[in-house]
Amino acid sequence: MRILAANWKMNPETVDEALRLASRIDTLLKDLPLVKLLFPPYVYIPLLKLENLTLGAQDVFYEPKGAFTGEISPTMLRDLGVGWVIVGHSERRNVIGEVDEVLRKKAEASLRYGLNVVYCVGERLEERERGEHFSVVERQLSFVPRDERVVIAYEPVWAIGTGRNATPEQIEEMHAFIKDRVGLKVLYGGSVKEKNAGELAAVEGVDGFLVGGASLRPEEFYRIGVALSR
Ligand code: 13P
Repeated sequence: MRILAANWKMNPETVDEALRLASRIDTLLKDLPLVKLLFPPYVYIPLLKLENLTLGAQDVFYEPKGAFTGEISPTMLRDLGVGWVIVGHSERRNVIGEVDEVLRKKAEASLRYGLNVVYCVGERLEERERGEHFSVVERQLSFVPRDERVVIAYEPVWAIGTGRNATPEQIEEMHAFIKDRVGLKVLYGGSVKEKNAGELAAVEGVDGFLVGGASLRPEEFYRIGVALSR
């Protein structure tokens, strides 16, 4: 089954709004034949009661407990009913400064404690312009555990939050490249909207979407899900 994942990032700003959005999405997506995932900020996780979506976390630490101020462990997440984590989102790589070795540890710990992983890869604009996108992604993939509970998300950094999605050709060739290297499912992420969802869902090798901005708009997110389930 294809995967539709909502990455809310650091949104929304209030509990009321988070509850309202989550319940609307839960209702709308009910009958779509997809694996449906919602990645809210940590603080909302214990408050959201979903019937049709599985909860995920946007990050995770690589130890189960101990003196790691500010971190959240895979065992804590499991205890709250979380099934998935995102590892290596480009905002964590490029804004927070996380490096591949740390991401590998996070992915391995998540698997060890029973969580599924969405592992993000993707090149920056200057890397694509220099023709380095395959080598960049290949290096990032070398840190990914080869485990069926890992799904790759190909998110070119220049397509995230910019309204400029990668083209079907760019997506098809990169997804084929990734599958050839690791043999895992591959989601596309980067400015997926209702207006491009049909075209992108038809691309060979797309096993689902990781959606940012549009996942905060339940009706639009639902229509993306409809396009993906055709
Ligand atoms: P946008 O859909 O807002 O471009 O974000 C994509 C993303 O980063 C999902 O993880």
